[in-house]
Amino acid sequence: MAYCVWLSVAFVLFAGSALPWEIPALHCALYGFCECGFRPDVAAMECDLARNVFGQNLAHKLLVKAMKEFLDNDSPSKPLVLSFHGWSGTGKTFVSSLIIKHLYEEGSQSHFVHHFSPILHFPHTQNIKHYKEDLRRWIQGNLTACGRSVFVFEEMDKMHPGMIDTIASFLGSSWVVYGSNYRKAIFIFISNAGGEDINEIALDYWRHRKDRDEIQLQQIESAISKAVSSNPKHGFWQSQIIDQKLIDVIVPFLPLRPHHVRLCIENEMLQQGLALNETLVNKVADSIVYFPEKEKVFSLTGCKTIASRLSYYV
Ligand SMILES: Nc1ncnc2c1ncn2[C@@H]1O[C@H](COP(=O)(O)OP(=O)(O)OP(=O)(O)O)[C@@H](O)[C@H]1O
Ligand SMILES: [Mg+2]
Repeated sequence: MAYCVWLSVAFVLFAGSALPWEIPALHCALYGFCECGFRPDVAAMECDLARNVFGQNLAHKLLVKAMKEFLDNDSPSKPLVLSFHGWSGTGKTFVSSLIIKHLYEEGSQSHFVHHFSPILHFPHTQNIKHYKEDLRRWIQGNLTACGRSVFVFEEMDKMHPGMIDTIASFLGSSWVVYGSNYRKAIFIFISNAGGEDINEIALDYWRHRKDRDEIQLQQIESAISKAVSSNPKHGFWQSQIIDQKLIDVIVPFLPLRPHHVRLCIENEMLQQGLALNETLVNKVADSIVYFPEKEKVFSLTGCKTIASRLSYYV
């Protein structure tokens, strides 16, 4: 660590001609010691997830275990590949940003965190060939610059099928990048696929008065796998990534109960510097639509619209 700091100072002194924002990248590319501002703090990550993410005990447990195992290993045999699934507003994007926050010194501002969204980055079906080539080159270039990169693929259920296979080789154990250990990278795929099935399972537990924390991972995993493989519009449709079992952990996000929604409202109030006020919490909570219509067990939009609803009622 001290060596890393010393090297940074020396580099800044001697790299007079480099532009300031190029220094960390150059530094890592040349020496690879600092691993690109990668400063994982799994204890802080665990704490942040426990304090700020509600109703996702299963996801919490799976993620903390996977992160610990992966980060404790100086020489992992393959990159860590996570696939997040669940209904809208249940915390998939939120959790991915909390994880990243505790991986890099600069958190989500790190140059080594890369986000992709099919609608934004790969919108036109006729350009798939170019997108595939660009994506492959982008991943390879960034893994060469920093083996500790994180790649987040949002909305996998809107990704053109066949597109993502262009990076399948980077997710396994056989690909080699000169001068960089690409096996230290983390890939996170996010989609709503399987969300309805996860909701069905959670509803079934609720109807049988069983604790949702007892939901069996195997049951939920197989429902998600079926939902993905039966959806020809999903980015993982007939994908090598599935066939070659390159996903290490399927992370399910359960639908949120009304009391989780209330916790989200309270959290949002605190973040906006508002004093906790039960009347206001009730107003916002009552404005949410819950399903099934008769029993009103889960929030239809999770905690997604809380911030804007709160502004409306304040
Ligand atoms: N389980 C949760 N615990 C605490 N806050 C949550 C949770 N789920 C969602 N939120 C809040 O709602 C916001 C929206 O959630 P997020 O964007 O993560 O949903 P999502 O699962 O990615 O939905 P989508 O599938 O529509 O993209 C978050 O920024 C966070 O403030
Ligand atoms: Mg999201």
